[in-house]
Amino acid sequence: MSPYPLNRPSPPARPHLATLTLAVAISALGQALSVAPALAQKAEAGEVGVYSGRHYNSDRELYRQFTARTGIKVNLLEAKDDALIERLRSEGSNSPADVLVLVDAARLKKAADLGLFRASRSVSLLRDVPVNLRDSTGRWYALTRRVRAVVVNPKQVNPATIRTYADLASPALRGKLCLRDRKSVYNQSLVADQLVQRGQAGTQAWIKGMTSNVAQPFFTSDIPLARAVGKGDCAVGVVNTYYVARMLSGDSGAADKAIAGRLTVVFPKPAHVNISGAGVTRHARNPQAAIKLIEFLASPSGGKGYAEANNEYPLRGYGNHSILKSFGPFQADAVSIEAIGARNKEAVQLMEAGGWK
Ligand code: FE2
Repeated sequence: MSPYPLNRPSPPARPHLATLTLAVAISALGQALSVAPALAQKAEAGEVGVYSGRHYNSDRELYRQFTARTGIKVNLLEAKDDALIERLRSEGSNSPADVLVLVDAARLKKAADLGLFRASRSVSLLRDVPVNLRDSTGRWYALTRRVRAVVVNPKQVNPATIRTYADLASPALRGKLCLRDRKSVYNQSLVADQLVQRGQAGTQAWIKGMTSNVAQPFFTSDIPLARAVGKGDCAVGVVNTYYVARMLSGDSGAADKAIAGRLTVVFPKPAHVNISGAGVTRHARNPQAAIKLIEFLASPSGGKGYAEANNEYPLRGYGNHSILKSFGPFQADAVSIEAIGARNKEAVQLMEAGGWK
C-alpha cells in the first residue's frame, strides 16, 4: 500500500524553469514530443502523469476511456524511450510523471536499474499479466506483446524451410538474409532471448552463421527491411510483425501494401516475444491513480485497444485483428522478459564480436 492518500493536498508547484529547459532540450534533439500544458504544472489529486515511449494516436483513445471510467485525468507526454528515461532521471522528485510506459525489455530493465520505478502490487495485475511478462519485484508489467518474426519472399525461398531462428544461420541462406543493425533493441532482445535458451557458445555460432548470410548492408529500421524482402533484394528478413501489419493495412501507402502482400510471415517455433510495459514511477504523486491506469491498460478489455493501436498482440491470445489473424497463431517461448533484459549487455557484445554491424 502506498503511504500517499489519493486526496491529499496538492504538492508545491514544480520548478517551471527546469521542466521547460528539459522540454526544449528534448525538442532540440529532434525527439517526437507532445507536452500537455498541465504537465508543467503541479499534480492534482485525481490526475495521473504519463510519460510514454509509445506514440500511437489510438493510445490516446484508451486514456480517454480510462478518464471516462474513473474520472482520473491523464496528462500525457510522449517522447522516445531513452529521452524519457533521461528526463525522469534528471527531474528526480520534481517529475510530474506517475507512470512510465516503455517499449522493449532492455529499456524497462534500464529504467528499473536506474531506480525510476517503485514496486507495486495489485491483485488484478497479478491475474492479468503472465508471470514471465512482469518484473519479479513488481516494478513493471507488460501491457502488450510483440513478436519478432521472419518474413520470407516465397519466390526465392520456401517459407517451410524456416522453422526456427536457428534456420536463419543455415548456409542455404548465404547471400539471402537481411538484418537490422545491432543498435536495434529489438535485435538485442532477440539475441538475449536466444542466449537464455542456447547459451553463449550456441548463440555465438548462430550469430556468425547469420552474419555470413547477410545480403545487404544492415538496415536501420524494420520497414525498409521488409520492403527489401518484398522486392526481392533479399529473400529472408527479421522484423516485428506489427510493421508488416502496418504495411498491409495501407497505413504506410499503397506501394507498401502491395509489397507486403508478397511477404510470407513465418513465426519461428518457438517465437521470441517482447513487450510494451509500464510501471509506477519512484516519485509518483498519485501512485494509486497510476496503478489504476496500469491495471486498466493491462486488463483484457483495455489491453485489447492498447494492443490493436499498434497491431500488437494482447497479453493472452491473439486478439481479433483481421490482419494479425491472417498471420495465424504463434507459439511463444517461455523466456521471461526480465531474463532478456538481464542478458542485454552480453547480447550486444556477442553481436559486435560476431560481425553484426
Ligand atoms: Fe517499433
